[in-house]
Amino acid sequence: MRKVPLAESLRIIAQGSLNWLVKRPIVVSFEVTDACTCYCKHCDHGGPRDTSHNMKPSDYRKYMEVLRPCVVQVSGGEPLMRDDLTEVVRNIKSESGLPFIILVSNWSEMTVERYQELRRAGVDEFCVSLDFPDERHDEFRGLPGLYRHLSEIMPKVSALGYDDVVLNNCITAANVEEINRCADKAAEWGVNINYSAYSPRRTGCKDYFLNTDDQKAILERGLKRLKERMNGTNWITNTVSTLDATQAYFNRGGAPSCKAGLRWLVVTSDGHLQPCSMQFKRYSLHEQGRMVEEFTQNNTCDQCYVSIRSYLDKSFPQLLRENVTEFFSFKKSSAFRSGNSAAPAN
Ligand SMILES: C[S@@+](CC[C@H](N)C(=O)[O-])C[C@H]1O[C@@H](n2cnc3c(N)ncnc32)[C@H](O)[C@@H]1O
Ligand code: SF4
Ligand code: SF4
Repeated sequence: MRKVPLAESLRIIAQGSLNWLVKRPIVVSFEVTDACTCYCKHCDHGGPRDTSHNMKPSDYRKYMEVLRPCVVQVSGGEPLMRDDLTEVVRNIKSESGLPFIILVSNWSEMTVERYQELRRAGVDEFCVSLDFPDERHDEFRGLPGLYRHLSEIMPKVSALGYDDVVLNNCITAANVEEINRCADKAAEWGVNINYSAYSPRRTGCKDYFLNTDDQKAILERGLKRLKERMNGTNWITNTVSTLDATQAYFNRGGAPSCKAGLRWLVVTSDGHLQPCSMQFKRYSLHEQGRMVEEFTQNNTCDQCYVSIRSYLDKSFPQLLRENVTEFFSFKKSSAFRSGNSAAPAN
């Protein structure tokens, strides 16, 4: 994964440190639409939705002025369904280069031209869902042809050389045996990969959670192999501590001490603040303080370990140490996918 340039790293760290102290969110996830092109088995967002109350691109500027996060996720639903997504991104990005913008998307509507346009508008990282390293991805996502589209566009985008695409593999009982094969696919396509964990909270379905000792042992073996393949590089973008915490989440059936609402929050498509995408208590833009008092300080929910949590549940020193040494450009750049680091799993 491309290292963040030094000047930008310093701006992100300065803004992040300030937000940590004054209890503003480090990361804001804008769900820019509830509609989606897919019907994923693990998600409650599938299919068309009423989009008439979606915020306009210019509304996002006001949210940025109040919340001032250093990292923004642009997500959904499927954000690429919005024809004005480039304008949304332009309104989120400030002249200083902040925030660091991550577009979280299934890429069904992505083209090489649109990728370049979104980069120019200010997207720093493209996070693309991949559940299986073959056509089972289409079946899981309810969208025929999606995997083929990904396998055609990924090498073309990778060849442009920006090194800003990260596959996101959400680990479920259905795909736990495939995590290293998904890494093989990332290496073949010339992109990076990140792992996150299934939460039953979205749909109420426990079948995709790792419920058996057998499934947990498969995960342990798979993660061990992934850690060997990381080998000091960052093409697998998780930290080792995050992979360990993912295993612990599945083993104990939850992850306590969630800081949703405080360290990060969600802005819904119609402009409400929510603690996270799976807690539907809604607040207005200027009510983050009330959300922290009412929700975060009393929150006992431990039902997910999604990426945003896995990065922000850490102590501030750990967060700084891991990000400074593993993502930002204070250290030697990684030998991306060199040597044996991306050797196929089997
Ligand atoms: C809600 S989607 C929105 C963006 C886009 N539609 C996509 O799929 O990438 C964001 C991420 O949440 C993940 N996700 C969906 N349902 C989940 C669940 N029940 N537990 C954990 N992650 C989930 C998806 O796999 C995806 O990587
Ligand atoms: S995971 Fe993403 S692509 Fe799948 S239904 Fe949910 S929002 Fe849509
Ligand atoms: S653990 Fe936290 S982020 Fe996850 S669903 Fe519960 S409140 Fe939301």
